[in-house]
Amino acid sequence: MLSVEENDMLTQTGPGTPMGDLFRRHWIPALLAEEIPGADCTPVRVQLLSENLIAFRDSDGKPGLIDAYCPHRGAPLFFGRNEECGLRCVYHGWKFDVNGNCVDLPNSPEGETYKDKVNIKAYPSFDKGGIIWTYMGPADKEPPKPTFEWLEVGENQRYLRKYWLRCNYFQAVEGDYDPSHAYFLHSTLDNNEGNPGRRFGAGVFNSFLNRTFADYIDTDYGIMNVAVSTTADGQQQANIGHFYMPSYSSAGIAGPDVFSSNMRIPIDDESCYMYRLRWSYNPFTDAQSAEDKYGGYTYPEQIPGTFLAVENKDNEYLIDRVAQKNYSFTGIKAFPVQDLALVEDQWGPRAHRNLERLVSSDESIIKVRRRLLDAARALMEGQEPSGPSNPDSYRVHTARVTVPGDMSAQDAIEAAKSRMVGPSTWEATKA
Ligand code: FES
Ligand SMILES: [Fe+2]
Repeated sequence: MLSVEENDMLTQTGPGTPMGDLFRRHWIPALLAEEIPGADCTPVRVQLLSENLIAFRDSDGKPGLIDAYCPHRGAPLFFGRNEECGLRCVYHGWKFDVNGNCVDLPNSPEGETYKDKVNIKAYPSFDKGGIIWTYMGPADKEPPKPTFEWLEVGENQRYLRKYWLRCNYFQAVEGDYDPSHAYFLHSTLDNNEGNPGRRFGAGVFNSFLNRTFADYIDTDYGIMNVAVSTTADGQQQANIGHFYMPSYSSAGIAGPDVFSSNMRIPIDDESCYMYRLRWSYNPFTDAQSAEDKYGGYTYPEQIPGTFLAVENKDNEYLIDRVAQKNYSFTGIKAFPVQDLALVEDQWGPRAHRNLERLVSSDESIIKVRRRLLDAARALMEGQEPSGPSNPDSYRVHTARVTVPGDMSAQDAIEAAKSRMVGPSTWEATKA
């Protein structure tokens, strides 16, 4: 449970808010690279942290992210002409480059000299891993660029899609730090009898209930969550997951050698984008790629031309009450849509955390909230967050290892830690 004030601090990311300032110390995904596919392409509207922006690429293919409104008299630059290394406002012809410089001011005799005094807000951006990244904070605090492991693997080792979620970013984040929900929300009435690979009972919930040790370790990048549990055959399983500041998760369900991440980026305080990533040190097999692209279970189908899932809030996620009664716990088909149906409306799009009744299985959520709130408060007092200046600290992924039953918790965790860096693999989850 949080106070109303803490909940506001956690969930508000517009300009001048404490959490908004914290987000603005990190490089964050602004849009998919394919949304601005090439030099001089059509500009697109981008709303990010409650700011209205326009993304485009100049004639050299360099991405730019500038204010959505022209500084002359506020006309929408979305209608601008993208021409010869700049976006030209079609109201009176002022033109701006990707760095925000006014490079032409043709509607007035003093334009040639006055243009040097005119700028438009422009955020640094670069193109990597299928994403246009941006930094929206103070220029003198711009950190080094991110170096996530998955930014360096080949295109056939990574699959990324973006979804539009109609809720605050943080209730979407909380779903990834909620070990008890999978056993219910994502289950079938026969515990996936016919499809053991998709079974949640043994892998997730029992490992939570049979936990003998758990710890949450503050790191530069966020939180390392370590846990040891006993297995049915008397061995132990050590698991490591991560929360990466400001809003990226290591989203545990993948393996044996495929890793996941969900990145939730606020559009405004009641909507966000989810960048859903799977990646591997090995090229994906054709079967893996086909499942991600066309299977519809892990990556739900989208309405063409949008980032909205076909099964969405407007159609009650196409819940099938017959399926719910007879086969599936929810009656909602795709895995992430099952989450969306619940997180998009927790007392509304921005949950009232002052009303909650938390229990011990919510402890990871509490830790993540605290980490973010503490960092936002520290920044208000002038203490910079530790992650942005140390991007290499983010180069860790999930790890799971089975060890003998008599191994100490500390040794079990060390064994798991040795697998969370580099091209190590998970041990396959035993159903
Ligand atoms: S409003 Fe853009 S040039 Fe006048
Ligand atoms: Fe879930």
